[in-house]
This record gives sequence, C-alpha cells and structure tokens, in this order.
Amino acid sequence: MHELNFLTREQISDIEENFTTPVYVYSEEKLIEAADNFLAFPHAFGHTVRYAMKANANINILKIFKNKGIKIDCSSEYEAYRALQAGYRWEDLQISGQETPRNLVDLIEKWVFMVATSLKQIEEVGKIKSGIKIWVRLNPGMGSWAFKAISTGWETSAFGIWHEYVPEVKELAERYNLEISKIHIHIGSENTPESWTESASIGLNFISQFESATILDMGGWFKKAIMPYEQSADLQAIWKSVAGKFEEFYEKTGRKVHLEVEPGKYMVINSCSVIAKIDDIVDTWKNGYKFIRTNTWMTEMPRVPMYGVQQPVIVLNDSEETEEYVVVGHCCESWDILTTKLYSQEELEAISLPKVSIWDTIVVEWTWAYNSSMSMKNYNSFPEAGELLIKSNWEIVEMRKRQEVSDIWRNEIEVI
Ligand SMILES: Cc1ncc(COP(=O)(O)O)c(C=O)c1O
Repeated sequence: MHELNFLTREQISDIEENFTTPVYVYSEEKLIEAADNFLAFPHAFGHTVRYAMKANANINILKIFKNKGIKIDCSSEYEAYRALQAGYRWEDLQISGQETPRNLVDLIEKWVFMVATSLKQIEEVGKIKSGIKIWVRLNPGMGSWAFKAISTGWETSAFGIWHEYVPEVKELAERYNLEISKIHIHIGSENTPESWTESASIGLNFISQFESATILDMGGWFKKAIMPYEQSADLQAIWKSVAGKFEEFYEKTGRKVHLEVEPGKYMVINSCSVIAKIDDIVDTWKNGYKFIRTNTWMTEMPRVPMYGVQQPVIVLNDSEETEEYVVVGHCCESWDILTTKLYSQEELEAISLPKVSIWDTIVVEWTWAYNSSMSMKNYNSFPEAGELLIKSNWEIVEMRKRQEVSDIWRNEIEVI
C-alpha cells in the first residue's frame, strides 16, 4: 500500500469541501525544493537548467521557476507565448519544436533562440537572417534505454537531425553564415547513469566537429521511481561521471564546454497529487474482476493509459480488509484503465486495496508531469479539472478554475 506524499488528511477534507473533484493539487514547497536541487549541482564548466515546460505549463509553475532563475525549453512558439505571459524574456527561451514556427521571422527578430531540429529549419532561419547564432538538435543514433515509447534517439525516431547529416548541417551553416554555438541531444526520458555517460561522450564528439560550439545541451532527464519496484537514478553518480567526461574533453582539446539540461519530469514529479472519488463498483462475476470506477483518469492522467505505466493509488478509508480491484476511469473508452500490466494497454492487473465503498476518496500520487498538460481534455465532454496550489504558507489557492460546462462548446459556431 502507498502513502500520501505531501497532502494531509485534513487538507484533503478541506479541499473536498470547497472544490469539485477530480482536482490537481500542487505543492509550492516541493517545486521550490526541486528547483534548488537542480541548481545546486556542480558541473565542470558551469551548467544551465532549462525547464521543459511541456511537462506542465501552468503560469504559476512557470513563475516559481522564473523566480529561481531557471530558463525554458519550449516545444512550440505557443509555449513561448505562454512563458512570456509568466514574465520570461525572449532571451530566456529556446524553441526546440518538431513543427517549424509559423511566426519564425518575428521570433528571430525578437531574438528567440531556435534549436533547429531539421535541415529545413536551419535553411529557413538562414534565409531570414544570416550571421546569427543557431542551435542544432542531432539524433545521436542512441536513445534512452528505458521503454521505447519515451526514447527519442534511435533510427525509429523523427526527432532531431540524424547524426550522419553533420556534413549537410555544416554546409548549410556555411552557406548562410550561421554560427552553430550549441549542440542539443535529447535521447529521451528516464535515463540511467550509464546511458547519460554514453550520450555525454557522443555529444562531446559532436562538439569536436563544430569549432563554434560552446554548449552541449543534453536534454531531458533521469529515471524517477514512482512505483516501489522502480529505482531512481543516482544523480550524484550521473553528475560525477558526466562532469568527468567534460573535464577529459577539456584536457584533450582545451575547450571548456558548458552543460545545459532540460528536466521536465524529474524536477517536478513529486509535487502534485490528484484527488478523486470512487463513483461505482461493478464486477464481471465469479471468474472475472471487481472494478472500481472513478470520476477521473484519462481526462486528467493520460500518461498511464498512453504508455501502459503504473501509478500509486491511495484509498482513504479505515477499512482493515483488503480486496483485489481493477481501477478504471470514467470515459467510455476501452483503454481508460489504470491497472494494466506494466507497458501493456490491454492486459488487466488487479491491485490490492482496502475494501472500498462508493464515494470513498482516492488520491493518485506523482501526477504532476505530462498529465495536466497532456490531458484528454473534454473527451466525453467532461469539464477540464481545476488546479490548486498549496502555498509555502499552507494557504490553499486555486491556480486554474474548473471549466464550466459552457466552456466546452464556447468555440463552436452554429451554422445549421
Ligand atoms: C527536447 C526535450 N527536452 C526535455 C524533455 C524533458 O524530459 P524529461 O521530462 O524526461 O525530463 C523532453 C521530453 O520529452 C524533450 O522532448
């Protein structure tokens, strides 16, 4: 059985009295703690932390990180506009998106840093303005060793410019007089110390091929244990071995390379819980399963059904008996299931929980990253859930309102 991460039972009752569930609850204290942890890491020749805002783009979270001096990685120009709303300046942002920004001319005039993720993007930047700095994302031909769905470095991945195109990258940079000052290699999420050390070597090898490059951006982050059978990456071990690679590189070449990292998940994952309710309990008779139907899931926490991963669920009741349940969401959708076998969207796996009753409260832990920002909003026309923040002074404030039902059809135009 799992335990509450940062919420107390009193806070949960208070929230249930005053807000509609399902609701996301964030901890300002945990967010600040995570930011401090990342900023405190030593590195051979300095490091910059860029928050990958795709993980959660609520304006308040961006502001907390901005106040800490953390910069931003945007996956689209629209994320850049959201970051500006939070008070960021253009020069604090980079856009490393798959889609070429529609407003590229304007963005380059404003001096946003573009991480070109294709040869076409380098060419487009060059045609708009020559003589400027550009950053380039390469696919190093090696991905994270976690499960394939979150790996972005192999030949099966359309992210970045395949590494064998380095001569073409150089040719375009020369043609348009662009200075490639940063190499970016995001190999995927949930990395181990070993995969990161290997990708540091590969990245530094790219740096040696680009005389003008002074920064290696190693992208996303490490494995963070959510379930008891998982193991978090040892950050100290990673930093030590990566810093060692940068020092070795300096000794060989005399070049001091600055490290950038773009954590999304690891920095923030333990700072959110979702409070929800058990709506119903049904079964499929003697040889079947007992199902808990909740008033949440893929609408608030798509990460679980999308990747077939597992997430801790806590039932708040005082029952001393336990039972085996399959927990499902509220959508009329066959893959809206929490308890499947690991990395499977289909094979059910019942979990042991205290014997539940309808209307018991459930708390789902470690829900911050890639949930609210990835939500299957309005599927089955469920309103988007609200978001609350527990401030450092323990005050509970709303940081996104729950949608009104009329918000769901607000942009529809009646033409019949
Ligand atoms: C370019 C880039 N940087 C950073 C990240 C953040 O990765 P993580 O959440 O594993 O730290 C991602 C995630 O997909 C990404 O695509």
